[in-house]
Amino acid sequence: MALVNLNFPASYDDMAAALPGCSGIYVVADRNVSSLYAQPIIKALEHAGAPVKGLMEIRCSERLKTYKNVEKIQSWLIARGADRNALLLAVGGGITTDLVGFAACTYKRGIKYANVPTTLLAMVDAGIGGKTGCNIGSYKNMAGIIKQPHTTFIMPWFCRSLSRKLFCDGYAELLKTFIIGDAEAYDIAVKDKDHKRLDELISRAASIKAKIVEADPDEAGLRKVLNLGHSFAHAIEFKSAHAWLPWHRHISHGQAVAMGMIMAARMSEELKLAQAGLADRLTSDFRSLGLPTESPWDFEALRPIMRTDKKSKDGKVSFILIASIGKVVMKDIGL
Ligand SMILES: NC(=O)c1ccc[n+]([C@@H]2O[C@H](COP(=O)([O-])OP(=O)(O)OC[C@H]3O[C@@H](n4cnc5c(N)ncnc54)[C@H](O)[C@@H]3O)[C@@H](O)[C@H]2O)c1
Ligand SMILES: [Zn+2]
Repeated sequence: MALVNLNFPASYDDMAAALPGCSGIYVVADRNVSSLYAQPIIKALEHAGAPVKGLMEIRCSERLKTYKNVEKIQSWLIARGADRNALLLAVGGGITTDLVGFAACTYKRGIKYANVPTTLLAMVDAGIGGKTGCNIGSYKNMAGIIKQPHTTFIMPWFCRSLSRKLFCDGYAELLKTFIIGDAEAYDIAVKDKDHKRLDELISRAASIKAKIVEADPDEAGLRKVLNLGHSFAHAIEFKSAHAWLPWHRHISHGQAVAMGMIMAARMSEELKLAQAGLADRLTSDFRSLGLPTESPWDFEALRPIMRTDKKSKDGKVSFILIASIGKVVMKDIGL
């Protein structure tokens, strides 16, 4: 069995056969998608004879991505008598898969879990790779464990219920994955304005992420390429959270990643790692897809925040830079 298992079921009826034997399946779902997706999934699992023991609906927001809510999930498991051979099934976006995965990894020193990502972002990123965790105060993802889910079930049709903003957030991460490792898919993703090839694109992006995770499950090196655009993005998100101009507030993670990738492309050109014109090309591609392209803050304004990023070391930040679309390089840069 591979370390990272992706499963693309044609219908819910195909899911039961892909789950491991266990004493009980405990489903934890984002309450916003529970009736739409979790409940029909449970029906299909029960129909196939799978031992579903209950459904817990949780509210999801960064503010609620806490130890307290991990504990709530675990208390629910205790109340239902879940033993070490139980399986937790997460149904929701990245907050749900991160929280539920963490609850599984720390319940009775670790039980199995599987993911059903329901946002595009979670299908191509958060739901794959085994990074689980929660926030501590305002520090994002400060607690956590890396342990692979048994399976990640990817059902692209869930994207139909996403708002345009949530869809665009996920699309930014999809483009990021292709800039890292699939130039051909990048071109398709830019041209595919009516999303006729979305299923194929999701499958290609998820598979690239899976391959990178397989090569470096503990994020010792190669896996860091997935942070393309993210050093800038985290600083942009920080500035946005503290901005006083209303139109600078509410920059989402995906929007910040889109801006961050363009800043990374510009930096790559300045360092002569990429040919001139790369940043302009990304700008016009992203704009054509409705993604924002200009960070309200320039490099100088973001520099002090990037210096203090949890991933910086001795004032040096590992930037992922773009040599060409489909090829990235890592470079430590002193700030
Ligand atoms: N573990 C990882 O490797 C990894 C990678 C990237 C991001 N993350 C984490 O993922 C989180 C962000 O994930 P997210 O954007 O999926 O956030 P999320 O889980 O908050 O979902 C966003 C919103 O979409 C709603 N939603 C979910 N599925 C829907 C659907 N099909 N239709 C309509 N609405 C739906 C949710 O109720 C929520 O309001 C962050 O906490 C981030 O730290 C983790
Ligand atoms: Zn991201």
